[in-house]
This record gives sequence, structure tokens and C-alpha cells, in this order.
Amino acid sequence: MQERLQKVLAQAGVASRRHAEELILAGRVSVDGTCVRELGVKVDAARARITVDGKPLAHRERHVYFLLNKPKGYLSTAKDERGRRTVLDLLPEVKERIYPVGRLDNHTEGLLLLTNDGALMNGLLHPRHQVEKTYIARVTPSPSAQALIQLTEGVLLEDGKTAPALVRVVGREAGEARVEITIHEGRNRQVRRMFAAVGSDVRALKRIAFAGLTLAGVKRGAHRPLTAAEVAHLEELAGVRR
Ligand code: URA
Repeated sequence: MQERLQKVLAQAGVASRRHAEELILAGRVSVDGTCVRELGVKVDAARARITVDGKPLAHRERHVYFLLNKPKGYLSTAKDERGRRTVLDLLPEVKERIYPVGRLDNHTEGLLLLTNDGALMNGLLHPRHQVEKTYIARVTPSPSAQALIQLTEGVLLEDGKTAPALVRVVGREAGEARVEITIHEGRNRQVRRMFAAVGSDVRALKRIAFAGLTLAGVKRGAHRPLTAAEVAHLEELAGVRR
């Protein structure tokens, strides 16, 4: 994002905006090796090399937060050494170095947050904070009443018993069921493995909610920035104090 140089200097704690203007006019500020002496110049704080009296500005990247509706076929990693598509390919205009908050399998679609705020990311992923994730799973065969109770109470997986979950069938047709499941853990391939443990195969999986946020208004493959209120809500859930 392009911002006025004096604003960037002020945000970096170099000086007040007025004093930053004086520094610029005095020829003490350089951008990418070139001395800047006028006030109209705009820079991308995340990318430009800015110096004051020859000293680099302490590099503090602005925090950014996005909610993505991930389609199937995109990896939830920042980079893939085999050149496969990653979720970052869906946010080409974002210049900050963002990462997905947790993972969705390649074949899972739905809500994925991305940010460069490491403290918030770690807090949201920490098991202590028990952040809620809700999925719709299309499964076959349709689970029995007994299987639904098992899923609700916890099933034994190779990495231990799952915590209680909220489970309800939202549709049934031709041997398949659509099941809404809310979990508080974030184990690898957890939902698929939970259904496998009760004898059902997950044919399609979509995350429809994460930490109280939903996909409302965000089409498949699209994304939007979080609002300040949403970020504050996530910080509270994640135990992040600022
Ligand atoms: N559980 C899964 O099995 N896969 C996901 O992508 C997310 C949760």
C-alpha cells in the first residue's frame, strides 16, 4: 500500500508527522537510495528501503488480515517447492508476507484466515484457546444415530480421543448425509479421520465458520479484509494484548 512518506516515518516512531516533514525537507531521508526532499512522495512501507540520516528505518510491517473462501485444489502453504497452486495465488495484490492461520487440506474448501500477525496466528492456533471451527461434510454412508453420538462424545484416533463436538445432520439423500460438525481442536485431517473412525467416508468438506467469522458475502475464491472489530474479537479469543 502506498502511503505518504511523512506518515510512514511517523508510524515507525521516527518523529511526529510535522517533524518528519522537516526531516524530509532538510534532505535527511532517502528512499531506495535516493534522497527525497519534497513532501508529496508516497512509498510502500512494506517494500521500500527508507533511511533517516543514513540509518534504516526499523522495519515494522503493518499487520494485515484477510478472510479467504478457499476453493478446492489450493495448498494452504505460502510456497510449494513443486510449483503447485497455493492460497497465496488467490491474493496477488497483497504485498505483505502473509501466512494461512492453520491449514485446510488441498481438497477442503471454505474459510481460511491469512495474516502477517504472528502473535494472533499463534494464539488462534493454540489448543488452550479452543477456537471453534465449523464444517459441512458430505459423507457416505450416512452415519447411524449411534455413530453421531460417538462423534459428539469423542472418537478414538491414532493421536488420541477427540474432544466433544457439536454434530447435526442437515440433509440426507441417496445414502449420503450432509453433516455440520463443530470442533475446537485443529488436528491434521481431523474431520476426515473422525468420520472414518465411525465408518463413513468424507466426499466433500467445507469450513463454514472459524472463531465466529463466517463466509457470508465472500464467494468461492474471493477474499476480504477483516474489519477492526473482527480483529479485536480475534485478539480477545487468542489472548493477545496490545
Ligand atoms: N479436517 C479435515 O479433515 N480436513 C481439513 O481440511 C480440515 C479439517
